[in-house]
Amino acid sequence: MAPSARQKAAEDSKSAVAPGWVLVTGASAGIGRELARAFASKGRNLVLLARSHDTTTELARELIMTKAVNVKTIPADLSVAGAAEAIFEGLTSKGISVDILVNNAGVLFEGEFSSIPLEEHLRLLQINVVALTALTRLFLPLMLQRRGGRILNVASTSAFMPVPRLAAYAAAKAYVLSLTESLSEELRGSGVTATALCPGFTDTSMMRGSRLGKAAPSIMVMSPAAVAEQGCAACLAGETICVPGVANKLIASGTPLMPRALVRGIGGMVISRGWDRIGNAWRAAASPSDKGGGR
Ligand SMILES: NC(=O)c1ccc[n+]([C@@H]2O[C@H](COP(=O)([O-])OP(=O)(O)OC[C@H]3O[C@@H](n4cnc5c(N)ncnc54)[C@H](OP(=O)(O)O)[C@@H]3O)[C@@H](O)[C@H]2O)c1
Repeated sequence: MAPSARQKAAEDSKSAVAPGWVLVTGASAGIGRELARAFASKGRNLVLLARSHDTTTELARELIMTKAVNVKTIPADLSVAGAAEAIFEGLTSKGISVDILVNNAGVLFEGEFSSIPLEEHLRLLQINVVALTALTRLFLPLMLQRRGGRILNVASTSAFMPVPRLAAYAAAKAYVLSLTESLSEELRGSGVTATALCPGFTDTSMMRGSRLGKAAPSIMVMSPAAVAEQGCAACLAGETICVPGVANKLIASGTPLMPRALVRGIGGMVISRGWDRIGNAWRAAASPSDKGGGR
């Protein structure tokens, strides 16, 4: 008989995550940098991965000085096929046991799907989906052998809805959320847990560089430190989904209850500020062909 959620939580909390290493991808900036700081504050040793080696080296110095933890850096480009395998080989050959894997690195390309160059779509999928999947698949068996470990995958509130002009990004985040939820169930009682962190607008260069971010009402924008603190706590507690912030929680819990046409319309409105889209979406939602969110 499958263990209850309470039994699972009890088993998982018994198997404390060994004080090994936390691998954080995209640790040079934004949410990843703050996740590194949050795990360091819990006394965890860190492997910081990003392309900007100078920045991760500087962060490593800071964490070693202020948090008295061990920190290593890996300069790596996750858009390159085979990067995950090389990272895994490099760390295991040095005897570095990754007990917490934080798949945070991500990119966003904004615009009409047909006007974004194919290379950018493929690059996004390689970083946000393929590398995340590969790192998870590579490190998970070792965690299962040790009967302890944590996986923290950074998704987004866009995982809960289609978002016009961010079509591939939102679809990739839906993949990350679905993968993580499925894994979380598969891992019941194993001592390993999987958590999806689903931030909304967060004040980072990714957000500031996008039209979507610039249009965000300031009340909805969170600091990367606040997002990271909640993500780190949820990961260590073995929670499956962490949506930081009240407004984001409302989005995440409300969208599945709404007609799909309305959800699509809201996504489009947020991006383009085209309030007429909301009106059209309401009308489409009320029409019998799409009522009840069939598609
Ligand atoms: N900001 C938001 O509003 C928001 C909302 C929801 C979800 N998220 C998600 O949160 C995560 C972090 O985003 P952020 O806002 O913190 O973005 P950010 O400030 O742009 O940071 C992105 C990080 O990913 C790394 N990265 C990018 N391309 C890479 C590559 N090819 N190889 C290795 N590392 C790479 C960057 O390092 P280098 O450039 O040095 O390689 C950087 O450390 C992403 O998965 C994003 O989708 C963000």
